[in-house]
Amino acid sequence: MFYSEDLVEEIRTKNDIVDVISGYVKLQRKGSSYFGLCPFHNEKSASFSVSPQKQMYYCFGCGAGGNVFTFLMEYEHYSFPEALKVLADRAGIALPEQEMNEEMKRQQNLRSQILDLNKMAAKYFYYQLRSERGAAGMKYLKDRKLDDETIHRFGLGYANKYSDDLYRYLKGKNISDELLAKSGLMQVDERKGMYDKFWNRVIFPIMDVNGKVIGFGGRVMGDGKPKYLNSPETVVFDKSRNLYGLHFARTSRKKQLLICEGYMDVISLHQAGFTNAVASLGTALTSQHASLIKRYTDEVILTYDSDEAGVRAALRAIPLLKEAGVNAKVLDMRPYKDPDEFIKALGAEEFRKRIDEAQNSFLFETDVLQKSYDMNDPQGKTAFYEEVASKLMRFELELERENYIEAVAGRYGVSMESLRKMVNRMALKGMNVAKAAPARSARTEKEAGILKSQKLLLTWLIEYPCLYRSVRQYLKPEDFTGDIYCTVARLLFEQYDNGESNPARIIDYFTEPEDQSRAAALFHSTLSVESTAEMEKAFRETLRKILEHSLDERSAKLDPADMEGLQKLIQDRKKLSEISRIHVEFQ
Ligand code: CTP
Ligand code: MN
Repeated sequence: MFYSEDLVEEIRTKNDIVDVISGYVKLQRKGSSYFGLCPFHNEKSASFSVSPQKQMYYCFGCGAGGNVFTFLMEYEHYSFPEALKVLADRAGIALPEQEMNEEMKRQQNLRSQILDLNKMAAKYFYYQLRSERGAAGMKYLKDRKLDDETIHRFGLGYANKYSDDLYRYLKGKNISDELLAKSGLMQVDERKGMYDKFWNRVIFPIMDVNGKVIGFGGRVMGDGKPKYLNSPETVVFDKSRNLYGLHFARTSRKKQLLICEGYMDVISLHQAGFTNAVASLGTALTSQHASLIKRYTDEVILTYDSDEAGVRAALRAIPLLKEAGVNAKVLDMRPYKDPDEFIKALGAEEFRKRIDEAQNSFLFETDVLQKSYDMNDPQGKTAFYEEVASKLMRFELELERENYIEAVAGRYGVSMESLRKMVNRMALKGMNVAKAAPARSARTEKEAGILKSQKLLLTWLIEYPCLYRSVRQYLKPEDFTGDIYCTVARLLFEQYDNGESNPARIIDYFTEPEDQSRAAALFHSTLSVESTAEMEKAFRETLRKILEHSLDERSAKLDPADMEGLQKLIQDRKKLSEISRIHVEFQ
């Protein structure tokens, strides 16, 4: 759905950023800005600033920044249309309806009917668990050491022993058999007709990332089979795109997500304070899960069961995660079977230690690999090293490859030298290994200095509009050489030429949150200066540096035959000396 720029801008201006962020972060006024503890990284002193003038936020600690849309996208993990919808609602602005064809309308209608139905069922199960008939279920959960708060938080419930209980309840609410059949809550049998899918089980409602009930899991209260029953896939329940516990974990503000196998693992981890635990349910981790995870974090800890199936699951998940750009570590739970058992036996503190000790996924893989070779036999040992070397070869960065060669050599008792030779020989045999990244040179140091100046000038331009006249006289947007700097400068210059300054609007020009943060950073540089005289000096100096750098770049690129270009360059160079004489006033 495409919304006009004007509408986007209207929604933005009707949602004051200080008001919106105050709903999430405690802010205190300091001078012209508000400050609070940054919600995007852990900190003790407030370096997160929100500026009512700029209608932007920026964290001086971690560099997160943007406008009110960026904030919701980052904090709530909304997509842009989602953030827009929420803020439009908040401001009482109606968004134009998306054009839907009949089929789309029907699907959407069905989805919302099933979600409503699931909610009804979840409430019913929840109520049953707390009624007299649910005593067995409650006892079961209590025996498994779940406390009242946890039972409530996860909305746990109970389906009692009659197989048509829920069916009759929902029929009493005038729900059609047709809808019931599509909901996955019922079983349909030619002879018996329609009856409840879940009975005589404790119930785990499965929620999507927004907390909507999309399906259920039911566990027998004892050793019966099957241990768990799960809702089938329906129009609202796609197992490969949902993770149990994610709606809590996404706001846990922890660096990683913990990925485990099942309902009980997630629940007992959350109860023990590990609110970043999620599980894929009754299915192996898929690439869709991996992309979903990537929306929230770059690193996960796999806390799969210690048995062979758990190891296999980890070996499958590691490359899928890597593919999606998520680094995995593997947690060792031994001698316990799963997180639930581990925590019951050793407690949260010990589990935290295991998190810190979690193993690098590459070394986890090689450890598993080693078990399939006879390390007492020279032949077997060599074959193992060869296989490891072929895996090592796949690291493209030389430094990374070296680090792994070192780690592997130390771990399996082989010299670094011979392992490296083996890797290199294999690489020469035809595999191409990318060149290592060039070291940070003097040139990049200088570049960094220039970028800093460009950033400072852009910040000043916003804070002191009076500077624009002088800047415009000496600089063109192209003189800002950083990749997004030039675009930001162009947009800002355009705004000033039209007699306005609206940095928050510039943020919307960028579609990626990462670019939005980087653009916001350009308006938030700091330089501590004592006096206005010093500030003026710093301004002239900054202006000169930027122009000089841009001229240097231009002359380096100049075609020697281009006389006109050369003339222009000489003229522009004269401006350099003028800069020291310009007079500006900061006010
Ligand atoms: N599972 C399933 N059907 C089964 C067994 C397992 O769908 N018959 C799924 C469930 O999502 C379960 C997960 O696989 O949570 C992990 O299985 P398991 O380790 O057997 O269950 P636990 O979560 O450890 O359950 P419990 O502690 O209750 O035994
Ligand atoms: Mn288990």
